Amino acid sequence: MRTLITSTAALALCVTLAQVARADSLTLYCAADEAWCQLMAKDFEAETGITVDMTRKSSGEIYAQVKAEADNPKGDVWWAGTGDPHLQAAQEELTEEYESPLMPELHDWAIKQAEAGNHRTVGVYSGALGFGYNKDLLAKNNLPEPKCWADLVKPEFKGQIQVANPNSSGTAYTMLATLVQLMGEEPAFEYLKALHKNVNQYTKSGSAPIKAAGLGETTVGIVFLHDAVAQVAAGFPVVPVAPCEGTGYEIGSMSIIAGARNEDEAKKFYDWALSAPVQSKAQTVKSFQLPSNKAATQSPLAPDLSTIKLIDYDFQKFGSSEERKRLLKRWDDEVASQPQ
Ligand code: F6P
Repeated sequence: MRTLITSTAALALCVTLAQVARADSLTLYCAADEAWCQLMAKDFEAETGITVDMTRKSSGEIYAQVKAEADNPKGDVWWAGTGDPHLQAAQEELTEEYESPLMPELHDWAIKQAEAGNHRTVGVYSGALGFGYNKDLLAKNNLPEPKCWADLVKPEFKGQIQVANPNSSGTAYTMLATLVQLMGEEPAFEYLKALHKNVNQYTKSGSAPIKAAGLGETTVGIVFLHDAVAQVAAGFPVVPVAPCEGTGYEIGSMSIIAGARNEDEAKKFYDWALSAPVQSKAQTVKSFQLPSNKAATQSPLAPDLSTIKLIDYDFQKFGSSEERKRLLKRWDDEVASQPQ
């Protein structure tokens, strides 16, 4: 009898300890730049006392992880990364419905993103796609200044261009979806096959190509313009280019993972991450996206989206599960498999 009472008490203690441990922690999957991910984790911990276990991965990789863990979710919040995979996860109910009390503080585009995902996601920032080049390497290789998408498929750029793989990277998926919307699907795939001949490497992360351009490892990197500006701000000889034909953009998003073990902490983080003071700090770590909170401040170095020719990106369609799967498979089958 005594043994039974002791083991019941021990079990109760374990359960209580487990609850206490869970109540003070948050598992964060982060798809922004490493420095911004670190800052978010550190500041949230400091302000709330909630311990953050943060992992940084690319947008498509986090989507794949959340899907793989769906029966036994390990993450609580998926913060940042392009909106398309967040919308796909919302459609597949891998993420949870939540309407933050901070919604009225947000720009319309961030609210529209929430509505497109049945409030299982929300916009946290926006940024336009483009490319950047290393001006020293361009001059050294005697190459003309690229200004348009059309310039990147010219034979003189063979081996000079780097872009990420759209399966792992939200940046590269945004390029794929942008070209389909800009040119029509068949011409876009012809373009991607021609571009493939000029690509020296498909990276996992979307911003890696412009970091490589900054270091002189590739001449051109296809990336979000804010990532090219970050290289300029860091002192590298990079020139950001908004393509002359027009371009697409992202609505970087945030979602609470369905079945999150630390749901209250997840909601706390969600509200906190939408607030103006938190979003205003992005520029301190050279993240130059347009914040979703209307009262957040932006660096004067940030790309001015109103001066860029933007397409009317169809987030609902290109964030749908069917379309993402179909386009990625077509890219694998018809582009990545081709010899260079
Ligand atoms: O580096 C920041 C950033 O460009 C974000 O704006 C974007 O949401 C994210 O990276 C995309 O990263 P990836 O292409 O690696 O998924």
